[in-house]
Amino acid sequence: MAEVVLRGFGWRHAGRRAWAIRGVDLRIRSGERVLLLGPSGAGKSTLLAALAGLLPEDSGESEGTVTVDGRDPHARESAGLLFQDPQTQLVMARSGDDVAFGLENRGVPAGEIWPRVSDALDRVGFPYPITRPTHALSGGEQQRLALAGVLALRPGLLLLDEPTANLDPAGGTLIREAIARAVGRDTTLILVEHRVEQALPLIDRVVVLAPGGGVAADGAPEVVFAGHGPALAEQGVWVPGYPLPRHRAVAGPGDALVRAQAVAVDRRLPPVRLEARAGEALAVTGPNGAGKSTLALVLGGLLAPTSGTVTAFDDPSPPHRWRAATLTRRIGSVFQAPEHQFVTSRVADELALGPRRLRRPAAEVSATVDELLARLRLTALAEANPYTLSGGEARRLSVATALATRPRLLVLDEPTFGQDRGTWIDLVALLARLRDEGHGILAVTHDEAFADSLADRVHDLTPALPHAHRRPDRRPA
Ligand SMILES: Nc1ncnc2c1ncn2[C@@H]1O[C@H](COP(=O)(O)OP(=O)(O)O)[C@@H](O)[C@H]1O
Ligand SMILES: [Mg+2]
Repeated sequence: MAEVVLRGFGWRHAGRRAWAIRGVDLRIRSGERVLLLGPSGAGKSTLLAALAGLLPEDSGESEGTVTVDGRDPHARESAGLLFQDPQTQLVMARSGDDVAFGLENRGVPAGEIWPRVSDALDRVGFPYPITRPTHALSGGEQQRLALAGVLALRPGLLLLDEPTANLDPAGGTLIREAIARAVGRDTTLILVEHRVEQALPLIDRVVVLAPGGGVAADGAPEVVFAGHGPALAEQGVWVPGYPLPRHRAVAGPGDALVRAQAVAVDRRLPPVRLEARAGEALAVTGPNGAGKSTLALVLGGLLAPTSGTVTAFDDPSPPHRWRAATLTRRIGSVFQAPEHQFVTSRVADELALGPRRLRRPAAEVSATVDELLARLRLTALAEANPYTLSGGEARRLSVATALATRPRLLVLDEPTFGQDRGTWIDLVALLARLRDEGHGILAVTHDEAFADSLADRVHDLTPALPHAHRRPDRRPA
């Protein structure tokens, strides 16, 4: 059990002009379960890092005080922190070893380690033997394992930072079930989770960080959402029941940009036939294991299909055979976890990379960079290191990077994963605008709201429904 007290707390990361979080006064009593909300960049992750003792003095400037059970969080490790990306948290090849690793690190006596490992795995409902290779687990299972690793440490304060943001709906359910069964009343819980509706059963209090500093709302969920619903939705919080904008195409689709015929990405999956056209947004949906991400790589020209043919841009050779420069001029790909793919240490350099490789003149490169920075609201972060961006900022940067070489076709893998309501709305509006300017948009997605809001056509990879169907409500005749 742990009590958290913040008084006038603020933190400014080294090298940043703006405070990541400021003026926070908050008391969380032992055993409370708090849902921490706030728009992308409001400082939620920074607050959790402070509580976990992960903000060393020399990494920034602080204001006010933060204590866990009356003590400086750096002084004693009483918090366990789970991040959104399971892959970056697993370090060992075998599942049990991964949980044991954290215990060994904290110097738990050898005789206690394995009983604690199996207890933690039971609590999260881990369904495999401890020898199960971690790479053979689904994303949701990996995250369950990572949660077991945190619970094995028996933290009095459990901090979960968007634990389902990188998972498909089934994986998200696995984690929420694991949290519900594993977290007892002897633990204080702070959960950051954009999908409010799904988080409500796990929590009894909602705290909303205001983007400008301080706490915008605090209380029981029904009170917070009844009293502040519209204002919170405006600020980017997924308030249950608030409608989302819809973007209909301004014109019918143009030429086919890419065509897949009898394409298989895996011998066990049925072959796919589809076409993505200019001026059209196509959503490719389907369950886990339907090969969606692999298909995105194939259509993006980054991988050869196992069988079948892909043709694009009237080129006789398939996209995966094109020279890199040709590919980036025609097709831009945005991956599922863009936060691992940045290759430079400055946001502006990241955007300049593609145009520079195409040997575009310096003046044109900097004009492109400036335009994209402004368009994706990243201008203030031009000098920042991409790896320090918040999740929503990183996603916008990855879309901007794909656009920098002005490709006509954009292939996106789960573009809306982990976005708050505000960045979600912005991203969908941006993609709608690109479509209406004549770009082809092809997005592999689990997000039904995304398909409803943007897609002109949905191609469902569910085996029983193998063909694309035009949604009758999309384009009234
Ligand atoms: N390690 C870091 N170095 C510099 N700036 C950072 C770092 N981590 C976060 N920031 C910045 O602090 C602000 C708050 O970020 P974050 O706490 O990640 O917000 P949230 O989790 O609410 O999206 C953002 O502007 C982000 O770019
Ligand atoms: Mg965050």
